[in-house]
Amino acid sequence: MRILREVSLQVRRGEIVAVLGPNGAGKTTLFNLLTGLRRPTEGAILLEGRDVTRAPVWQRARKGLARSFQITSLFPSLTVMENVRLAAQAHRGGSLALWRRVTRHDPALDEAGRALDLVGIADRADDLAADLSHGGKRKLEVALAIVGRPVVLLLDEPTAGMSAEDVPEVTEVIRKVRDTLGTTIVLVEHRMDVAVGLADRMAVMHHGTLLACDTPERVMADAEVQSAYLGEAL
Ligand SMILES: Nc1ncnc2c1ncn2[C@@H]1O[C@H](COP(=O)(O)OP(=O)(O)O)[C@@H](O)[C@H]1O
Ligand SMILES: [Mg+2]
Repeated sequence: MRILREVSLQVRRGEIVAVLGPNGAGKTTLFNLLTGLRRPTEGAILLEGRDVTRAPVWQRARKGLARSFQITSLFPSLTVMENVRLAAQAHRGGSLALWRRVTRHDPALDEAGRALDLVGIADRADDLAADLSHGGKRKLEVALAIVGRPVVLLLDEPTAGMSAEDVPEVTEVIRKVRDTLGTTIVLVEHRMDVAVGLADRMAVMHHGTLLACDTPERVMADAEVQSAYLGEAL
């Protein structure tokens, strides 16, 4: 079954691109193709100019492609710091050892600390992950995703299920990651205001095709986008 057709999308280094479209448009499928969870029947996927179309998930991750972890992949009974430190150790390819005495310097601990600083939850480092608010858990997920310094970060609906007041904080964190680390970010976002405020460009999908990909201003003014979405919530 063909889900996507003729989707051609080029994302520049350091750019934030928001992928929009109603349910069933093909956004998650596009993400699964990019991460390697699914293989396209046709076409190619390039990461920094290298063809990764046939590369498995782990190989793309090693080349710098990260996808945000889901909340379910957090260890709720470990502290915030322990969660990020494990991710840092995993990324460094070393052994996972929370119990290691700090007799010698653990670079993973420094990296974890920097990631927590960046997402703004360093003050919660010693709290259990389970005790974070929903927004706090999202920030922790971002910390886990950036601890390996990815080139490209994919976020599937980072504001899903969040209350309106938590949204600006999390979008600020996403912007800060790009501004500070230069990470290229592609996110699926249902909230039009969030996408407009955050994205350099918006890619609008519809029935498995790419309807438009341009600056928020131009996309909002696009007659085809307007007619396709008149009265339809994006
Ligand atoms: N494994 C699959 N087999 C058959 N159809 C699928 C599969 N995965 C997704 N689809 C269909 O492809 C379309 C796009 O799905 P999806 O990428 O999840 O959309 P979105 O994330 O934009 O809501 C939907 O019509 C969905 O039902
Ligand atoms: Mg989806």
